[in-house]
Amino acid sequence: MAAINSVTELTQDGDIAIITLNSPPVNALSANVRDGLFEGFKAAIADDSVKAIVLICAGRTFIAGADISEFGGASKGASLFDVQNMMENSPKAVVAAIHGTALGGGLEVALTAHYRVAVPSAKCGLPEVNLGLLPGAGGTQRLPRIVGAEKALEMMTSGAHVPAKECLAMGLVDAMAEEGKLLEGAVAFARKVLDEKMPLKKVRDRDVVGGSPEVFAAFRKANARKFRGFDAPEANIKCVEASLLPFEEGLKVERTLFMGLMTGAQSAAQRYVFFAERLANKIPDVPEDTAEIPVKKVGIIGAGTMGGGIAMNFLNVGIPVTIVETKQEALDRGLGVIRKNYENTAKRGRLTMEQVEQRMGLLTGTLELEALADSDLVIEAIFENMAVKKEVFGKLDAIVKQGAILASNTSALNIDEIATAVKRPEAVIGLHFFSPANVMRLLEVVRTDHSSNEVIATSMKLAKKIGKVAVLVGVCPGFVGNRMLFQRQNQAQRLVMEGAMPWDVDRVLYDFGFPMGPFAMSDLAGLDIGWNKETSKGETIRDQLCELDRRGQKTGAGYYDYDENRNAIPSPVTEEIIKGFAAKQGLNQRDISDEEILERTIFPMINEGAKILEEGKAIRASDIDIVWINGYGWPVYRGGPMHYADLVGLPKVLERLKQYQNEMGDFFKPSALLEKLVAEGKGFKDLK
Ligand code: 3HC
Repeated sequence: MAAINSVTELTQDGDIAIITLNSPPVNALSANVRDGLFEGFKAAIADDSVKAIVLICAGRTFIAGADISEFGGASKGASLFDVQNMMENSPKAVVAAIHGTALGGGLEVALTAHYRVAVPSAKCGLPEVNLGLLPGAGGTQRLPRIVGAEKALEMMTSGAHVPAKECLAMGLVDAMAEEGKLLEGAVAFARKVLDEKMPLKKVRDRDVVGGSPEVFAAFRKANARKFRGFDAPEANIKCVEASLLPFEEGLKVERTLFMGLMTGAQSAAQRYVFFAERLANKIPDVPEDTAEIPVKKVGIIGAGTMGGGIAMNFLNVGIPVTIVETKQEALDRGLGVIRKNYENTAKRGRLTMEQVEQRMGLLTGTLELEALADSDLVIEAIFENMAVKKEVFGKLDAIVKQGAILASNTSALNIDEIATAVKRPEAVIGLHFFSPANVMRLLEVVRTDHSSNEVIATSMKLAKKIGKVAVLVGVCPGFVGNRMLFQRQNQAQRLVMEGAMPWDVDRVLYDFGFPMGPFAMSDLAGLDIGWNKETSKGETIRDQLCELDRRGQKTGAGYYDYDENRNAIPSPVTEEIIKGFAAKQGLNQRDISDEEILERTIFPMINEGAKILEEGKAIRASDIDIVWINGYGWPVYRGGPMHYADLVGLPKVLERLKQYQNEMGDFFKPSALLEKLVAEGKGFKDLK
């Protein structure tokens, strides 16, 4: 056994050399790893007793990609191309042994091996697109040479992690090894290569299958909506097109496009988001080794849209759920909706009917709160009324076993006050799911004054288990996400009174990268949420629209008119109503520039984010960005509101807020933190 360097070992099994990488946590291709690979292969190739070489990784995974934290820094050590050339041109067969995830640069390394062997649980993918990049180590040219142009387009623009079985079917993996016996399997395969004198196959020498101009045109058209605003998908497509050229020419295209993306603002933002998402899990005053409360059984109170959606998250990962309602009819309806959701997923081919039944088998409905006695976690998801919530928590306190977590899904109420209803306030926490709760990735975990470390740590870990991105926030009106949304909504409403039409505001925010603007969103959700026909007195624009039965998309009209294909069309009726209101209030409607719309909807949000930080209701600026990206459709390539503010420059944000404050009042008053950062020449990124 020989250590090549601190992360690489070279050992031998007879005439098979084994290069083992061990660079936790994910064997990313840092300078040290590249050096180890380069020297390891050099030594193995030079050793006459070696006839073939297996590359394998220790720990949880094969190489999961380039080391993202090194991007933008000075390049050190052997380059990835040096390593790949050494492997591909090796006169001795090279077999890559894959477990965990072979991603990005990791898969690109494996693609320069002559053969790939994987265990069934392994996955392969080129997820660079999610970092605003493309595979920049030959992956764009080699992948289509194995899987064909169409499949490569799909894999590279989705970043999907493809299961080993599918990889085998596509030829990306040559053979499977038994789970847990990867090394044995890979060594046996290397022996077979020697015994059967199998050729040293270079992927680069193959031809690309498929890839007519029609295929690319159709792919672009089919995905135009999904890729809107992003630079990386189109660059990935161009690389696949270039894979039809001779290999070296294609590589040049890849290099040029890669460097363009790498030095651009979008990839910088997306890489920032990658680390921000992981940082959000780190809670300074909750030690990493805090004991977790085992959650084996979940209780949910309320089988409405929220309760049902929340339940599905746990059923999906095999955790039994008991759901409580007050009336049999409501319970039946709630359970029926869950079943229907699963069946619809099955119809789309994403679940088997057997899986649907498995999930439904884990679900129990009841009218008895007592059935939650042995739950490890109870989530209350009833309507927003403090008195009723406190009553429910008081009852839970008497029923549910000690040690369990008592959570509220409130999106607005003071959870500290809810916690006064129990004798164990340390067990209480907010779990603010976003609707639809089985789809939306964000979970605001709301700590109260008394939430224990165990309750916080368990909530954060559980969130990851159910596929959510959790952000820990403090109790304040609207918590982080909605508190900032109120600012935007306020200005959206003001702007239409001053002369911008709803479709102007929506267009500006859509062009900025949001999936839809606030008025289109209201039409989708329904304008009549919280509206009452009996008591409505036409006092707001919304009241008047609803009174005309313009209650949103569901009635074919709201702020917009809708045609039979649900296309939104600016409505003269809405325009009339708005103008009437403005006249009544003595407001002179004027032309409002797109720039003003953007500044007045976005800058107050940034200002509110700064206040949230000042008050300690979010741990760090990047946590706020994660909330807005995952809960409100903030375009990920703009990195979230606080990252965006740093890019625009805080002096500019401050100057514009002051200007609006002078013209329109203290709604725009800059926060003390913003003033301080500008005075110190700092950005949100500099906050510790
Ligand atoms: N570079 C640097 N650090 C990385 C990394 C990478 N490629 N991948 C993961 N890490 C770090 C994470 O930041 C995290 O650090 P922390 O513990 O300090 O927070 C740690 O590894 C563990 O990561 P996760 O918490 O994400 O662990 P999971 O087990 O949930 O997921 C994973 C593992 C699926 C590998 C996931 O980390 C992942 O998707 N990583 C990124 C993969 C990727 O994008 N690869 C392509 C990189 S770009 C590239 O290769 C360019 C090339 O074409 C030239």
